[in-house]
Amino acid sequence: MKHLLSVADLTREDAVRILDTAAQMAATQEREIKKLPTLRGRTVVNLFFEDSTRTRISFETAAKRLSADVINFSAKGSSVSKGESLKDTALTLQAMGADAVVIRHQASGAPHTLATAGWTRGAVVNAGDGMHQHPTQALLDAYTLRRHLVGDGGRADVYGRDLEGARVVLVGDVLHSRVARSNVGLLHTLGAEVVLVAPPTLVPVGAGAWPARVSYDLDATLAQVRPDAVMMLRVQRERMSSAGGGFFPSPLEYARRYGLDARRLAALPDHAVVLHPGPMNRGLEITADAADSPRSVIVEQVANGVAVRMAVLYLLLAGRNDGSAA
Ligand code: CP
Repeated sequence: MKHLLSVADLTREDAVRILDTAAQMAATQEREIKKLPTLRGRTVVNLFFEDSTRTRISFETAAKRLSADVINFSAKGSSVSKGESLKDTALTLQAMGADAVVIRHQASGAPHTLATAGWTRGAVVNAGDGMHQHPTQALLDAYTLRRHLVGDGGRADVYGRDLEGARVVLVGDVLHSRVARSNVGLLHTLGAEVVLVAPPTLVPVGAGAWPARVSYDLDATLAQVRPDAVMMLRVQRERMSSAGGGFFPSPLEYARRYGLDARRLAALPDHAVVLHPGPMNRGLEITADAADSPRSVIVEQVANGVAVRMAVLYLLLAGRNDGSAA
Protein backbone atom coordinates (compact mmCIF):
# COMPACT_ATOMS: atom_id res chain seq x y z
CA MET A 1 0.00 0.00 0.00
CA LYS A 2 1.64 3.26 -1.12
CA HIS A 3 -1.31 5.61 -0.56
CA LEU A 4 -4.80 5.32 0.93
CA LEU A 5 -7.10 7.13 -1.48
CA SER A 6 -10.25 5.00 -1.57
CA VAL A 7 -11.70 1.89 0.02
CA ALA A 8 -11.77 0.50 -3.52
CA ASP A 9 -7.96 0.20 -3.23
CA LEU A 10 -8.31 -2.26 -0.34
CA THR A 11 -8.66 -5.99 -0.71
CA ARG A 12 -10.33 -7.86 2.12
CA GLU A 13 -6.86 -8.89 3.33
CA ASP A 14 -5.65 -5.27 3.28
CA ALA A 15 -8.68 -4.12 5.27
CA VAL A 16 -8.37 -6.91 7.84
CA ARG A 17 -4.66 -6.15 8.19
CA ILE A 18 -5.44 -2.50 8.95
CA LEU A 19 -8.17 -3.47 11.45
CA ASP A 20 -5.88 -6.00 13.16
CA THR A 21 -3.06 -3.45 13.32
CA ALA A 22 -5.52 -0.91 14.76
CA ALA A 23 -6.38 -3.40 17.51
CA GLN A 24 -2.68 -3.67 18.35
CA MET A 25 -2.36 0.12 18.32
CA ALA A 26 -5.40 0.42 20.60
CA ALA A 27 -3.77 -1.98 23.06
CA THR A 28 -0.71 0.29 23.24
CA GLN A 29 -3.00 3.19 24.08
CA GLU A 30 -4.11 1.44 27.27
CA ARG A 31 -0.57 1.85 28.62
CA GLU A 32 0.49 4.69 30.87
CA ILE A 33 3.04 5.87 28.27
CA LYS A 34 1.08 6.05 25.02
CA LYS A 35 3.82 7.28 22.74
CA LEU A 36 5.61 4.78 20.46
CA PRO A 37 8.94 5.54 18.74
CA THR A 38 7.81 3.95 15.46
CA LEU A 39 7.75 7.04 13.21
CA ARG A 40 10.47 9.07 14.89
CA GLY A 41 12.10 11.34 12.29
CA ARG A 42 9.11 11.16 9.91
CA THR A 43 6.98 14.19 9.07
CA VAL A 44 3.22 14.03 8.58
CA VAL A 45 1.49 17.03 7.02
CA ASN A 46 -2.22 17.53 7.68
CA LEU A 47 -3.48 19.50 4.68
CA PHE A 48 -7.06 20.56 5.36
CA PHE A 49 -8.95 22.63 2.78
CA GLU A 50 -12.30 21.82 4.40
CA ASP A 51 -13.42 22.11 8.01
CA SER A 52 -12.89 19.16 10.32
CA THR A 53 -12.86 18.45 14.03
CA ARG A 54 -12.59 14.67 14.46
CA THR A 55 -10.50 13.68 11.44
CA ARG A 56 -7.90 16.44 11.74
CA ILE A 57 -7.43 16.05 15.48
CA SER A 58 -7.29 12.28 15.36
CA PHE A 59 -4.73 12.21 12.52
CA GLU A 60 -2.64 14.70 14.51
CA THR A 61 -2.98 12.61 17.67
CA ALA A 62 -2.21 9.39 15.78
CA ALA A 63 0.94 10.84 14.18
CA LYS A 64 2.16 12.27 17.49
CA ARG A 65 1.51 8.98 19.34
CA LEU A 66 3.81 7.37 16.75
CA SER A 67 6.45 10.10 17.42
CA ALA A 68 6.18 11.68 13.95
CA ASP A 69 6.63 15.42 13.54
CA VAL A 70 3.33 17.00 12.51
CA ILE A 71 2.70 20.07 10.38
CA ASN A 72 -0.91 21.27 10.43
CA PHE A 73 -2.05 23.27 7.43
CA SER A 74 -5.49 24.81 7.26
CA ALA A 75 -6.58 26.58 4.07
CA LYS A 76 -8.27 29.25 6.18
CA GLY A 77 -5.66 31.82 7.08
CA SER A 78 -3.17 30.47 4.50
CA SER A 79 -2.07 31.74 1.09
CA VAL A 80 -4.88 29.66 -0.45
CA SER A 81 -7.08 32.69 0.32
CA LYS A 82 -4.73 34.70 -1.97
CA GLY A 83 -5.38 32.22 -4.77
CA GLU A 84 -2.49 29.77 -4.28
CA SER A 85 -3.21 26.47 -6.02
CA LEU A 86 -3.20 22.95 -4.60
CA LYS A 87 -0.07 22.27 -6.65
CA ASP A 88 1.91 25.19 -5.24
CA THR A 89 0.67 24.50 -1.72
CA ALA A 90 1.73 20.86 -2.04
CA LEU A 91 5.13 21.77 -3.51
CA THR A 92 5.70 24.21 -0.64
CA LEU A 93 4.91 21.56 1.94
CA GLN A 94 7.02 18.99 0.08
CA ALA A 95 9.95 21.40 0.33
CA MET A 96 9.54 21.05 4.09
CA GLY A 97 9.99 17.29 3.77
CA ALA A 98 6.62 15.59 4.10
CA ASP A 99 6.76 11.81 4.40
CA ALA A 100 2.96 11.62 4.41
CA VAL A 101 0.29 14.11 3.40
CA VAL A 102 -3.16 13.71 4.92
CA ILE A 103 -5.50 15.72 2.73
CA ARG A 104 -9.11 16.82 3.05
CA HIS A 105 -10.42 18.74 0.08
CA GLN A 106 -13.79 19.87 -1.19
CA ALA A 107 -13.00 18.54 -4.68
CA SER A 108 -13.57 14.84 -5.31
CA GLY A 109 -10.32 13.41 -6.67
CA ALA A 110 -7.94 15.98 -5.14
CA PRO A 111 -6.06 13.29 -3.12
CA HIS A 112 -5.70 11.18 -6.28
CA THR A 113 -4.28 14.16 -8.16
CA LEU A 114 -1.85 14.88 -5.33
CA ALA A 115 -0.72 11.24 -5.28
CA THR A 116 -0.24 10.91 -9.03
CA ALA A 117 0.91 14.35 -10.23
CA GLY A 118 4.32 14.20 -8.61
CA TRP A 119 3.68 17.17 -6.29
CA THR A 120 4.65 15.14 -3.25
CA ARG A 121 7.01 12.23 -2.70
CA GLY A 122 5.14 11.20 0.44
CA ALA A 123 2.30 8.78 1.00
CA VAL A 124 -1.08 10.42 0.45
CA VAL A 125 -3.99 9.66 2.77
CA ASN A 126 -7.46 10.78 1.80
CA ALA A 127 -9.15 12.39 4.81
CA GLY A 128 -12.32 13.16 2.82
CA ASP A 129 -12.68 14.48 -0.73
CA GLY A 130 -15.93 16.12 -1.77
CA MET A 131 -18.75 13.59 -1.97
CA HIS A 132 -16.35 10.85 -3.04
CA GLN A 133 -14.43 8.99 -0.31
CA HIS A 134 -13.48 9.06 3.37
CA PRO A 135 -11.65 5.73 3.73
CA THR A 136 -10.37 6.10 7.29
CA GLN A 137 -13.92 6.88 8.46
CA ALA A 138 -15.14 3.61 6.95
CA LEU A 139 -12.21 1.76 8.53
CA LEU A 140 -12.91 3.19 11.97
CA ASP A 141 -16.59 2.37 11.55
CA ALA A 142 -15.73 -1.22 10.60
CA TYR A 143 -13.33 -1.40 13.53
CA THR A 144 -16.08 -0.19 15.87
CA LEU A 145 -18.56 -2.69 14.46
CA ARG A 146 -16.04 -5.49 14.81
CA ARG A 147 -15.46 -4.64 18.47
CA HIS A 148 -19.18 -4.89 19.12
CA LEU A 149 -20.32 -7.72 16.90
CA VAL A 150 -17.47 -10.17 16.41
CA GLY A 151 -16.80 -12.95 18.89
CA ASP A 152 -13.03 -13.23 18.76
CA GLY A 153 -11.88 -10.21 20.68
CA GLY A 154 -15.21 -8.46 20.31
CA ARG A 155 -17.70 -7.70 23.04
CA ALA A 156 -20.66 -9.59 21.63
CA ASP A 157 -20.59 -12.89 19.83
CA VAL A 158 -22.99 -12.19 17.01
CA TYR A 159 -20.52 -12.86 14.21
CA GLY A 160 -17.62 -15.25 14.38
CA ARG A 161 -15.17 -13.82 11.89
CA ASP A 162 -14.90 -10.17 10.96
CA LEU A 163 -18.18 -8.78 9.60
CA GLU A 164 -19.29 -11.51 7.21
CA GLY A 165 -23.10 -11.51 7.18
CA ALA A 166 -23.46 -8.50 9.50
CA ARG A 167 -26.51 -6.41 8.63
CA VAL A 168 -25.90 -2.67 8.53
CA VAL A 169 -28.52 -0.03 7.68
CA LEU A 170 -27.25 3.38 6.57
CA VAL A 171 -29.86 6.12 6.86
CA GLY A 172 -30.10 9.64 5.53
CA ASP A 173 -28.31 11.93 3.14
CA VAL A 174 -26.62 9.29 0.99
CA LEU A 175 -26.44 11.67 -1.97
CA HIS A 176 -23.88 14.02 -0.42
CA SER A 177 -22.12 11.43 1.74
CA ARG A 178 -18.55 10.27 1.17
CA VAL A 179 -19.02 8.34 4.42
CA ALA A 180 -21.86 6.34 2.83
CA ARG A 181 -19.88 5.65 -0.35
CA SER A 182 -16.87 4.51 1.67
CA ASN A 183 -18.88 2.38 4.08
CA VAL A 184 -20.87 0.66 1.35
CA GLY A 185 -17.63 -0.32 -0.40
CA LEU A 186 -15.72 -1.43 2.66
CA LEU A 187 -18.61 -3.26 4.34
CA HIS A 188 -19.22 -5.13 1.10
CA THR A 189 -15.51 -6.04 0.90
CA LEU A 190 -15.75 -7.36 4.46
CA GLY A 191 -18.82 -9.43 3.62
CA ALA A 192 -21.52 -7.40 5.39
CA GLU A 193 -25.00 -6.80 3.98
CA VAL A 194 -25.83 -3.12 3.55
CA VAL A 195 -29.20 -1.42 3.16
CA LEU A 196 -29.43 2.28 2.33
CA VAL A 197 -32.51 4.17 3.52
CA ALA A 198 -33.12 7.70 2.29
CA PRO A 199 -35.74 9.91 0.71
CA PRO A 200 -35.69 9.36 -3.08
CA THR A 201 -34.24 12.86 -3.50
CA LEU A 202 -31.18 11.94 -1.43
CA VAL A 203 -30.32 8.71 -3.24
CA PRO A 204 -27.60 9.24 -5.88
CA VAL A 205 -28.26 8.34 -9.48
CA GLY A 206 -26.51 5.02 -9.99
CA ALA A 207 -26.89 3.83 -6.39
CA GLY A 208 -28.79 0.85 -7.80
CA ALA A 209 -25.46 -0.47 -9.04
CA TRP A 210 -23.82 -0.24 -5.60
CA PRO A 211 -23.46 -3.43 -3.55
CA ALA A 212 -26.37 -2.39 -1.33
CA ARG A 213 -30.15 -2.54 -1.32
CA VAL A 214 -32.02 0.79 -1.40
CA SER A 215 -35.21 1.53 0.55
CA TYR A 216 -37.24 4.69 1.10
CA ASP A 217 -39.03 3.39 4.21
CA LEU A 218 -37.06 3.35 7.48
CA ASP A 219 -39.65 1.68 9.70
CA ALA A 220 -40.28 -1.14 7.22
CA THR A 221 -36.53 -1.67 6.76
CA LEU A 222 -35.79 -1.84 10.47
CA ALA A 223 -38.61 -4.36 10.97
CA GLN A 224 -37.56 -6.49 8.00
CA VAL A 225 -33.76 -6.39 8.27
CA ARG A 226 -33.42 -6.54 12.09
CA PRO A 227 -30.03 -4.77 11.73
CA ASP A 228 -26.95 -5.32 13.84
CA ALA A 229 -26.07 -1.68 13.36
CA VAL A 230 -27.75 1.50 12.23
CA MET A 231 -25.48 4.19 10.85
CA MET A 232 -27.10 7.59 10.72
CA LEU A 233 -25.76 10.02 8.12
CA ARG A 234 -25.53 13.76 8.59
CA VAL A 235 -27.88 15.91 6.53
CA GLN A 236 -25.25 17.98 4.70
CA ARG A 237 -27.00 21.29 4.45
CA GLU A 238 -23.78 23.01 3.37
CA ARG A 239 -23.84 20.92 0.17
CA MET A 240 -27.47 21.84 -0.54
CA SER A 241 -28.16 25.09 -2.35
CA SER A 242 -30.49 26.50 0.33
CA ALA A 243 -31.45 25.45 3.88
CA GLY A 244 -33.28 22.29 2.83
CA GLY A 245 -32.46 22.70 -0.85
CA GLY A 246 -35.85 21.22 -1.78
CA PHE A 247 -34.52 17.77 -0.92
CA PHE A 248 -37.20 17.29 1.73
CA PRO A 249 -40.35 19.22 2.66
CA SER A 250 -39.19 20.40 6.12
CA PRO A 251 -36.76 19.39 8.88
CA LEU A 252 -39.74 18.17 10.92
CA GLU A 253 -40.92 15.94 8.09
CA TYR A 254 -37.40 14.60 7.54
CA ALA A 255 -37.02 13.78 11.24
CA ARG A 256 -40.43 12.07 11.26
CA ARG A 257 -39.65 9.84 8.27
CA TYR A 258 -35.90 9.30 8.56
CA GLY A 259 -34.74 10.37 12.02
CA LEU A 260 -33.60 7.91 14.68
CA ASP A 261 -35.62 8.48 17.84
CA ALA A 262 -36.47 6.57 21.02
CA ARG A 263 -39.32 4.67 19.35
CA ARG A 264 -37.15 3.39 16.49
CA LEU A 265 -34.30 2.69 18.90
CA ALA A 266 -36.59 0.48 20.99
CA ALA A 267 -37.50 -1.50 17.86
CA LEU A 268 -33.88 -2.57 17.21
CA PRO A 269 -32.52 -5.98 18.25
CA ASP A 270 -30.99 -5.94 21.75
CA HIS A 271 -27.41 -6.16 20.52
CA ALA A 272 -27.75 -3.50 17.78
CA VAL A 273 -25.54 -0.42 17.97
CA VAL A 274 -26.00 3.10 16.64
CA LEU A 275 -23.26 4.93 14.76
CA HIS A 276 -22.93 8.45 13.39
CA PRO A 277 -19.73 9.83 11.81
CA GLY A 278 -20.34 13.29 13.27
CA PRO A 279 -20.88 16.13 13.39
CA MET A 280 -24.50 15.40 14.31
CA ASN A 281 -27.57 17.51 13.61
CA ARG A 282 -29.32 16.65 16.86
CA GLY A 283 -33.08 16.80 16.40
CA LEU A 284 -32.82 16.24 12.63
CA GLU A 285 -31.28 12.87 11.71
CA ILE A 286 -30.96 11.75 15.33
CA THR A 287 -32.63 12.77 18.58
CA ALA A 288 -30.60 13.51 21.70
CA ASP A 289 -31.97 10.43 23.49
CA ALA A 290 -30.84 8.19 20.61
CA ALA A 291 -27.45 9.89 20.30
CA ASP A 292 -26.79 9.62 24.04
CA SER A 293 -28.33 6.18 24.59
CA PRO A 294 -26.31 3.17 25.80
CA ARG A 295 -26.61 1.72 22.27
CA SER A 296 -24.80 4.70 20.81
CA VAL A 297 -21.13 4.10 20.00
CA ILE A 298 -20.63 7.55 18.53
CA VAL A 299 -18.04 8.72 21.06
CA GLU A 300 -16.27 5.37 20.79
CA GLN A 301 -16.04 5.86 17.02
CA VAL A 302 -13.98 8.99 17.67
CA ALA A 303 -11.64 7.16 20.06
CA ASN A 304 -11.28 4.28 17.61
CA GLY A 305 -10.35 6.77 14.91
CA VAL A 306 -7.01 7.39 16.60
CA ALA A 307 -6.07 3.68 16.65
CA VAL A 308 -7.18 3.20 13.04
CA ARG A 309 -5.23 6.24 11.84
CA MET A 310 -2.17 5.11 13.79
CA ALA A 311 -2.46 1.79 11.93
CA VAL A 312 -2.78 3.49 8.54
CA LEU A 313 0.20 5.80 9.12
CA TYR A 314 2.25 2.91 10.50
CA LEU A 315 1.49 0.63 7.55
CA LEU A 316 2.21 3.39 5.03
CA LEU A 317 5.36 4.78 6.61
CA ALA A 318 7.17 2.28 8.82
CA GLY A 319 10.14 0.95 6.90
CA ARG A 320 9.59 3.38 4.02
CA ASN A 321 12.95 4.94 3.23
CA ASP A 322 13.43 4.66 -0.51
CA GLY A 323 10.33 6.23 -1.99
CA SER A 324 8.43 2.92 -1.93
CA ALA A 325 5.78 1.99 0.58
CA ALA A 326 6.15 -0.60 3.31
N1 CP B 1 -16.50 12.31 10.62
C1 CP B 1 -15.78 13.37 10.22
O1 CP B 1 -15.16 13.35 9.17
O2 CP B 1 -15.83 14.43 11.08
P1 CP B 1 -15.03 15.78 10.88
O3 CP B 1 -15.64 16.49 9.69
O4 CP B 1 -15.23 16.54 12.17
O5 CP B 1 -13.60 15.45 10.64
